[in-house]
Amino acid sequence: MAKDLSFSCNECGASFRKWSGQCDACKAWNTISEDKALASGPKGKTLGAIRGKSIPLTDLDTQEQEPPRTKAGVDELDRVLGGGLVKASALLVGGDPGIGKSTLLLQAAARFARNGLKVIYISGEESNAQIQMRGRRLGLEKSPVMLASETNLRDILTTLENEKPDLAIIDSIQTMWADNVDSAPGSVSQVRSSAHELTTFAKRNGMAVIMVGHVTKEGAIAGPRVVEHMVDTVLYFEGERGHQFRILRAVKNRFGPADEIGVFEMTGKGLAEVKNPSALFLSERGAPAPGSVVFAGIEGTRPMLCEIQALVAPSPHSQPRRSVVGWDGSRLAMILAVLESRCGVPFTGLDVYLNVAGGLRISEPAADLAVAAALVSAREDATVPSEAVIFGEISLSGALRPVVQTENRLKEAQKLGFTNVIMPQQAKSAAVSGIQMQQATDLAAFIEQVFGAR
Ligand code: TYD
Ligand code: MG
Repeated sequence: MAKDLSFSCNECGASFRKWSGQCDACKAWNTISEDKALASGPKGKTLGAIRGKSIPLTDLDTQEQEPPRTKAGVDELDRVLGGGLVKASALLVGGDPGIGKSTLLLQAAARFARNGLKVIYISGEESNAQIQMRGRRLGLEKSPVMLASETNLRDILTTLENEKPDLAIIDSIQTMWADNVDSAPGSVSQVRSSAHELTTFAKRNGMAVIMVGHVTKEGAIAGPRVVEHMVDTVLYFEGERGHQFRILRAVKNRFGPADEIGVFEMTGKGLAEVKNPSALFLSERGAPAPGSVVFAGIEGTRPMLCEIQALVAPSPHSQPRRSVVGWDGSRLAMILAVLESRCGVPFTGLDVYLNVAGGLRISEPAADLAVAAALVSAREDATVPSEAVIFGEISLSGALRPVVQTENRLKEAQKLGFTNVIMPQQAKSAAVSGIQMQQATDLAAFIEQVFGAR
């Protein structure tokens, strides 16, 4: 019988029959490696040959009990979890190495322990002494969290079975080693198999498990994406190394809304909640300058103002630079094309730099209009009124499309002392007292309103 080989991509987890240099699914290079199958039941028999047990069925109407939740008592974290940590659930916290995942989870562990959960923190990366040192730095040395430094999954599962904690934190899933899978720790099969074992253990024993996953650029170590489908909740911890702001973002949540974010600040004593992120993101704004625009965005359910900065300069290169931080590069290309072909504002021969201030990442199309305003402002060396916020989506025809949650955006702008808003025309107007609204139907008209006839 031919040996049944299978290969999968460390980056996106796609499976293939044979090895190749580039992943067909996510186009990453050198990320494909051989898989070892998960350990399973009796070998060589089809599933139908040995009878399983009958599964109890229910209908759609009979109400199952809501699973109990425990709050951490940190709003920024509880909101992202959808209202607290759910019993018997599996979570994945992904992020770049060094961004602060271990810090966040040690602080969360202490909070949950203080709120009555039995918490075990298992690190495969640091010694107990190192974790204790971090604990002292965070002022948590007296909290009733139990620690272990271990990578052997069999020993970890036995310990969890004996100790019966309510929450186990595994830092990180890439360092775990299941001895029934004969490949190196960090490989796709090890990571998948460890995550699978931990998730099923958690479900069966009514324990919550939080697994840390490093986002990796190297091909040899599997990224957190290969286990995303197995867990109930996927959170990513984002931020720029040079900035102190950190954002915890829910990208998948079976027990709450996805897209919800929590904002933290990395301080000398660990992560601190940021209750009013708009004020923080705008705090570094100086005097009105060309290329600077305030965008009223929405992240999950919460409005958030931030500054968008653009710089446009003559290019010394034959192919001008397009550099973006915090926004989508292809979306920028689209806005530049619309400005050029629908509004007669060309950027040929000009380098364009676009930056979302403070290390925030924006994915909403509602930022289109603020980006366009920043670009035109930088190119024309003309400031946008500093008391105005801007939002709206731009279509390829140059028309402006209304966006969701207009009223929330306006209220946040009012709360932070803005008096003007420039936005797309919309049928149902949401007036907020103290805010003067300027509306436009297309981009060319908007440019004329803000920068005058050119
Ligand atoms: P860490 O939680 O170890 O990151 P990860 O687990 O994601 O790899 O955090 C590492 C960084 O955080 C490190 O560069 C130091 C910084 N830090 C602080 O600034 N303040 C603190 O109180 C702590 C504990 C860490
Ligand atoms: Mg760590």
